[in-house]
Amino acid sequence: VPTVTGTLALSVFTAVLGSLQFGYNIGVINAPQKIIEADYNATWVHRYGEPISSRTLTTLWSLSVAIFSVGGMMSSFTVGVVSEWLGRRKAMLINNMFAFIGGGLMGMAKLCRSFEMMILGRFVIGAYCGLASGLVPMYVGEIAPTSLRGALGTLHQLAIVTGILIAQILGLESLLGSEDLWPVLVGVTVLPTVLQMGLLPFCPESPRFLYIIRCQEHHAKSGLRRLTGRQEVGDMLAEMKEEKRRMDMERKVSIPELFRSTMYRQPIAIAILLQLSQQLSGINAIFYYSTSIFQKAGVQSPVYATIGAGVVNCAFTVVSLFLVERMGRRTLHMLGLSGMCGCAVVMTVALSLLDSVPWMSYISMLAIFGFVAFFEVGPGPIPWFFVAELFSQGPRPAAMAVAGFANWTANFIIGFGFQYVAELCGPYVFLIFAALLLFFLVFTFFRVPETRGKTFDQISSGFGHASPDIMDMELDKPSTELDYLGAEGSLN
Ligand code: GLC
Repeated sequence: VPTVTGTLALSVFTAVLGSLQFGYNIGVINAPQKIIEADYNATWVHRYGEPISSRTLTTLWSLSVAIFSVGGMMSSFTVGVVSEWLGRRKAMLINNMFAFIGGGLMGMAKLCRSFEMMILGRFVIGAYCGLASGLVPMYVGEIAPTSLRGALGTLHQLAIVTGILIAQILGLESLLGSEDLWPVLVGVTVLPTVLQMGLLPFCPESPRFLYIIRCQEHHAKSGLRRLTGRQEVGDMLAEMKEEKRRMDMERKVSIPELFRSTMYRQPIAIAILLQLSQQLSGINAIFYYSTSIFQKAGVQSPVYATIGAGVVNCAFTVVSLFLVERMGRRTLHMLGLSGMCGCAVVMTVALSLLDSVPWMSYISMLAIFGFVAFFEVGPGPIPWFFVAELFSQGPRPAAMAVAGFANWTANFIIGFGFQYVAELCGPYVFLIFAALLLFFLVFTFFRVPETRGKTFDQISSGFGHASPDIMDMELDKPSTELDYLGAEGSLN
């Protein structure tokens, strides 16, 4: 078992401060909706001398919520270019600019009587989060020792869910979710930014990036020494050398090439579908709209039930953290998807019986908690770091960009569309998610390989070396039976 050195711990902690902000901004608009809407109305009255129409208000609010994902979609697409140009560490450092601007705009919106500032701020902070959602898993995946890559990768998700929970709690009306204090609530997102900027200079740049991309063997070596606490890092360097040798034979991988090359088509399809399985599971229907879902389910204190969901969310991410290096990614992902599917069905039954059987409100609340718990066992944390695992150094940045874009687009669709579909389908809306979950379960069973304990080189050569027809044939069998990904165990 490799030791977790102080430098490694500090670097991962510093990086996931970005994930913390990502989560915070997902969770922050749920509770204070009514209060911020009241301010939009006040602004309207101030400007036009009449109250805002409810149609316009709904539009302005939906825009404030959803434009966050639009910012994320746009910026996540640039993750590849930015991380290669600036390096992982400097990219994270400079990304903080967006957090300052976004947080500042949102925090000053009330003072300036401008909902435009709030909406623009949500867009800019979304752009920050889009970059963070690619840069953090990439950096953490690259600096982690092979046998801890999954566990450390899960810390990205743990920071996200912690951010969501902090936002849910601070958003209580008795804390910061009040008429006077909501600007502070949306503005405090700059605090982790300041901390991250202070700490980043003490974190080493990713040695893989330095060596394989920038050819700076000396710097890579000293980074490795700091991260591992060992003087002798020859074996790790040798592994990178092998990856570099292979990469030098390929051309630089652009996004279109990911889809054209037979070598990358398999892993990019897997990467995209895993992101979709995360978002189209319906998880953010809960995190954006839980309060109103609990209300409809007849739960007595919906705001506290929302916080309950946040607590369950955190607790089960910790469970996953401890299981992911033992049970592997595939098993946990499938366990999570099937559990969510079951909970979605129970929820539907409970909601449709609600009128005749009052205690069904408890069942539906439990089903929602179960849904969230199973999400965090696999579909929450795994897709984020799995993409970084599926690709070697060359195609990784482009792949992270594509995967991030898929994730944010699906996030946007759910955030924007859920309420309309829910109105149409009533209590049966979660059956749609159940069907999707079933599809992703079958896909994972047949197509997704296990990556636990394998080096990047072993994983990608599993896709690269077999001829395309053999890959297709073999992949029709469940992947656990395959040993094409090379030997268990790692070079670290
Ligand atoms: C994942 C998802 C995010 C979701 C969160 C819930 O990080 O990417 O969209 O809100 O999990 O815990």
